[in-house]
Amino acid sequence: MSCARARQADAVLSMVTDRFDAATIRALPRLGVISNLAVGVDNIDLAAATRAGVAVGHTPGILTETTADLAFALLMAAARRIAEGDRYVRGGRWRTWGPKVMLGRDVHGATLGIIGWGAIGQAMARRAAGFGMRVLYLPGPHATRSGRSDSLARASVTADLPAPVPVSLERLLADSDFVSLHVPLTSETRHMIGASEFAMMKRTAILINTARGAIVDRDALTGVLRAGRLAGAGLDVTDPEPIGPNDPLLRLPNVVITPHIGSASHATRLKMAELAVDNVIDVFEGRHPRHCANPTVRLRWRERRPDTAGEET
Ligand code: DGY
Repeated sequence: MSCARARQADAVLSMVTDRFDAATIRALPRLGVISNLAVGVDNIDLAAATRAGVAVGHTPGILTETTADLAFALLMAAARRIAEGDRYVRGGRWRTWGPKVMLGRDVHGATLGIIGWGAIGQAMARRAAGFGMRVLYLPGPHATRSGRSDSLARASVTADLPAPVPVSLERLLADSDFVSLHVPLTSETRHMIGASEFAMMKRTAILINTARGAIVDRDALTGVLRAGRLAGAGLDVTDPEPIGPNDPLLRLPNVVITPHIGSASHATRLKMAELAVDNVIDVFEGRHPRHCANPTVRLRWRERRPDTAGEET
C-alpha cells in the first residue's frame, strides 16, 4: 500500500508485509485504526500507534487450528522426508524399492517440545497426543494471552497419555525430538533460537517454525543443518520474507519450506477477513476493535467524532 493513499485513510486493512513504524504512523494524520489481517502484530509499532491514538486490530482465535494443522504437517513432512521424496520421484531417481531408501524419523512416540504455550502451541499439543507423542512445553508470558488454560489442555489429552509437562528451555531443547515455535516476535523472542540453543538440541532433532522467521537466527540454523548438527527443519516463515532465491537454506535437502501459509485455508482466511473488517467497523462506531492489540489506546477516532465521545467498549 502506498503511503500517499494511506494519508487519506481513516482505516487501513494491513497485511503482515505492511510495516507501520513510528514515522509511518506519524505521517498518517487521519488514521483511526490499523486492522491487521493476522494474529501477529510485529509489523506494527504498537507503542507508537497507542501514542498516536490509533487502535490496532488483529485476528486471534480463528486461525489457531488451521495454523496448528500446518505446523504438524511440516513436522511430518520433515520427519518422513515427504517433499524430498516427491522431488526424488519427479526427478526420475526412483528405480527400485530399497530397505534404506529415504529413511526418516518416527513421529509416534517421539518427544515434542513446544515453545509458546498459547492457543496455537496447545492446539499443536492436541495433535501430538493423537500420535502418542510426549509433549514438553515452555511456560511463559504468552501462555495465557490467547491460549486455553493448562488444565483445559491437560483435559483434552487422551487419558492413557502423560499430560504435557512444563519444563525449562534447556530441558526442552535437550530432550525433544521435535521443537516447534509458537511465540510472537518481540524484542525478547528475536533470535531466541541461535547457536547456543542449537548446541543444546539433539543432532537428530527437527525444528518447526510457523511463528516468525526472526525468532530463529538464520545463519546459526543454516550452519547446524549444513554441519549435520540438526537433522532437519520445517519452516513456514523465514527471515527475510520472501526467502531470497540464493539463500543457502534452499539448497539443503533436509529443509521443508512453505511460503507463510499457516492460516491459509479458504475457511480461515474468510473468517480472518470478516474479523478484520469488524475490527474497523468497531472503531468507526466509536468502540475499541473487538480484538485490539493495544487495548489501552485512547481512540483518536472517538475524539474526532464528538457524538461518540465518552462511550466505552
Ligand atoms: C498471523 O496471523 O500472524 C500469520 O502469520 C498470518 O496468518
